[in-house]
Amino acid sequence: MKALVYYGPYDVRVSEMPDPKIEEPTDVLVQVTTSNICGSDLHMYEGRTDMEKGRIFGHENLGKVVEVGKSVTNIKVGDMVCMPFNIGCGKCKNCEKGLTAFCLTMNPGSAGAAYGFAGMGPYSGGQAEYLRVPYGDFNCLKLPEDAIEKENDYVMLSDIFPTGYHATELAGVKPGETVVIYGAGPVGLMAAHSAAIKGASKIMVVDSHKDRLKLAEDFGAIAIDSSKGTTVEQVLDMTDGQGADRGCECVGYQCCNTHGEEQSNVTMNELVQAVKATGSIGVVGVFVQKDPKSKETLEKKGHMDFDFGSFWMKGQRIATGQANVKSYNRELCALISAGKAKPSAIISHELSLDEAPDAYKHFDDRDKGWTKILLKPGQKAKKK
Ligand SMILES: NC(=O)c1ccc[n+]([C@@H]2O[C@H](COP(=O)([O-])OP(=O)(O)OC[C@H]3O[C@@H](n4cnc5c(N)ncnc54)[C@H](O)[C@@H]3O)[C@@H](O)[C@H]2O)c1
Ligand SMILES: [Zn+2]
Ligand SMILES: [Zn+2]
Repeated sequence: MKALVYYGPYDVRVSEMPDPKIEEPTDVLVQVTTSNICGSDLHMYEGRTDMEKGRIFGHENLGKVVEVGKSVTNIKVGDMVCMPFNIGCGKCKNCEKGLTAFCLTMNPGSAGAAYGFAGMGPYSGGQAEYLRVPYGDFNCLKLPEDAIEKENDYVMLSDIFPTGYHATELAGVKPGETVVIYGAGPVGLMAAHSAAIKGASKIMVVDSHKDRLKLAEDFGAIAIDSSKGTTVEQVLDMTDGQGADRGCECVGYQCCNTHGEEQSNVTMNELVQAVKATGSIGVVGVFVQKDPKSKETLEKKGHMDFDFGSFWMKGQRIATGQANVKSYNRELCALISAGKAKPSAIISHELSLDEAPDAYKHFDDRDKGWTKILLKPGQKAKKK
């Protein structure tokens, strides 16, 4: 089959790879019809993780079931399914509690597994024609009748919509509250959409990219341009000087200062200032345990110069981590089906697999108008 393979920093190519096979009786094979490029892929693309060369990217996958293992009972050939980016066994202590991002058995020695992901097990990604899904009954969400019509919405259930929602859950956003969201990438935009769905009274979204901020406004948020260097003041002005009730970090360790240089503590320290005393902060932006290619001494070890004194004095709380996609995807799916959520609003490009290397470059450069890219492995490249 054709697949997008990682050859090293800034080098991804479409290559011929072996077709995946049913390896366990609980496996399901999916013909991938949509697989998205994610901000998490960019950390790997830039060589800022331990991603092994020769692996297939792609953890935001949707497709049609083409084969099922002998023990699979719920999922059938022909079903349209969307897979959470996390792979869970469904049987361990964490999976039992719905904490599928921290499955204890799928990546032994660590908590949490995913498709095509650095440090999250050997599983191949879905930026390819076919994908092997372990524990298919547990990991496939069977989509409703309108699966094909709303495919571009449903594919967001694999990661960014539940992840944005998770940011608001970790922050504890409740109806009527104010929330400040750092990052207007796909995840931050989905956090804004989720906060609006939850009935937040004021949603402020911070980023330096105007095209992304415009999409935040379309979801009912107030845009704050971080390049002006007055983010915290603007949030305080809009919240009677108190700060927002809740904050969401949707950027991660490669966040930038006002000069556009990476500085890993910017968003976390600003959130402490922009969130009220006793408020809480949900962090879904990825922070890593080591980052040897960083220019910062502390960040090389995965540490940061964090304003713990202000955080403590303000009596705030922080919650972090990968999203337990499976705890939310069924209900968010129902919202899409009912026309009450439209995550596809952020899509800028639908491309073939052959166009993926070029798309990675544009998305990584945060080029204007490249807000979310969907790869369609069944689609042929357009003639240039
Ligand atoms: N926890 C999870 O389960 C999970 C799932 C998916 C993605 N992620 C992570 O979420 C983060 C965001 O993902 P994405 O797809 O939206 O990525 P992205 O890279 O497309 O978007 C990040 C945005 O943050 C902005 N930004 C940079 N510095 C900033 C600052 N100081 N203040 C405000 N905005 C700033 C950038 O301009 C960019 O628009 C990444 O770290 C990704 O790995 C986590
Ligand atoms: Zn993702
Ligand atoms: Zn498990």
